[in-house]
Amino acid sequence: ATVRYEAESAPATCDGTIDSNHTGYSGSGFCNTTNATGTAAQFTVDVASAGTATVAIRYANGATDSRPANILVNGATVQSASAFSATGAWTAWSTKTVSVPVNAGSNTIRLAASASSGLPNIDYVEVTDGPPPQTGDG
Ligand code: GCU
Ligand code: CA
Repeated sequence: ATVRYEAESAPATCDGTIDSNHTGYSGSGFCNTTNATGTAAQFTVDVASAGTATVAIRYANGATDSRPANILVNGATVQSASAFSATGAWTAWSTKTVSVPVNAGSNTIRLAASASSGLPNIDYVEVTDGPPPQTGDG
């Protein structure tokens, strides 16, 4: 199953402000982190079974340069300085997809800026767990 988790909806957290001044976001806003190393957007997500989940991160980066972030699952870094490319405008939203290890049940997914530019603006993550259910004649 694929479930969307909005950055503006608790239990998600945002080290900055929830803004709505750049159109094109989903829900009621997006996370604008303070532009500093370590600032983060964190999501708490549920997956059905342990294994690998696909995480699609919707973001906008209207700056000139890509913005790197560490991606942590349940506190462990699973990707370091993963690049969020410039999208051309703060109103231009793109999706970056990563595969991460997860436990069954609740997991935290944390995006933490690894450079002083902070994160790009973060709209949501969509988490897809496991293989699709198999149909059968049983
Ligand atoms: C601008 C933009 C913000 C963005 C910020 C940044 O101020 O309006 O939405 O977060 O740049 O550089 O991070
Ligand atoms: Ca910002």
